[in-house]
Amino acid sequence: MTGWELLAVRQSQAENLSIFEPAAPPSQSIRTLSILLFAIAALIFIVVEGILFYNLLRFRKTADGPSTEPPQVYGGTPIEIAWTVAPTLIVSILVLVLARTLWEIDLDPPPPKPGDNALFVTVVGRQWWWEYRYDKYNGRDLGFITANELHVPAGSEGVPRHVYLDLQSADVIHSFWVPRLAGKTDLIPGKTNRMWFETRERGTFYGQCAEYCGTQHAGMLLRVIVDSPEEFERWIELQQRPARDDPAAREGKAAFLAESCVNCHRVRGTPAAGTYAPDLTHLMSRETLASGIVPNNRENLDRWVKNPQQVKLGCLMPAFSFSDRRREEIVRYLATLR
Ligand code: CUA
Repeated sequence: MTGWELLAVRQSQAENLSIFEPAAPPSQSIRTLSILLFAIAALIFIVVEGILFYNLLRFRKTADGPSTEPPQVYGGTPIEIAWTVAPTLIVSILVLVLARTLWEIDLDPPPPKPGDNALFVTVVGRQWWWEYRYDKYNGRDLGFITANELHVPAGSEGVPRHVYLDLQSADVIHSFWVPRLAGKTDLIPGKTNRMWFETRERGTFYGQCAEYCGTQHAGMLLRVIVDSPEEFERWIELQQRPARDDPAAREGKAAFLAESCVNCHRVRGTPAAGTYAPDLTHLMSRETLASGIVPNNRENLDRWVKNPQQVKLGCLMPAFSFSDRRREEIVRYLATLR
């Protein structure tokens, strides 16, 4: 995929990336803070530039003006006090509103209690995709793993459904950023960071890794899909099932299990138990491949298996040079993993 194609993908998602259209409390707090900071900065800009231009015009050199220098002023207590007190006041206001916003983002809501509608997911940043380990929902253990598309339930009036993310990294520092839901939070090797959000707005929210993490940092896109609670229950139910065993794809399955695919990928219900690459158990339930780079369809799946480097240059999956027949069988099997 070229930079231009990636740009086109990015632009098609641009309408749902604005921090000025918050859909969750943390991003709402961030927008309020941004507008306040922008307003203060704009006011300072207007005052300073206004005085500058006033003086440039008022005291400019004219043909009939005095030819000597104007009186020189050294020191002035009122001026000293003014330009010390004014910035101190401005900075104090900034510190206070920043502290309040940090408090809202980090501590509000309080940590959930058993029986809350809370969803807990561990997010693992990897070069260059996202692993989602679904831990708990509504007090139930989930215990399945998926990749790149985070499904969460929408809250409703009086029934909030908070989403808590534990952020970890398997390699280098990444940053989880879905602008309409929450601020960016880094995923740091050897450390667990936490973030939360809650939204009532259904639909797909786009995001992007926001910390440079190598060749495909720009191709480390992410999607959060907010389902209705009923849709979310159905989605969980599907994800918890082991992989389909479609008799029509028996040869493909045997080929998949015989090749190196199994060293990295997991397909629950089969001997494929790799943990290094995305879990493929319900691959076809995802809308995109390779962390949001291309739509997930038969054609792109075939391109991917043929040569992943041609789809996502630098990605950690090599081209295996399968024969056409072998590749078609494997793709046919992958396409049954709904
Ligand atoms: Cu991951 Cu940038």
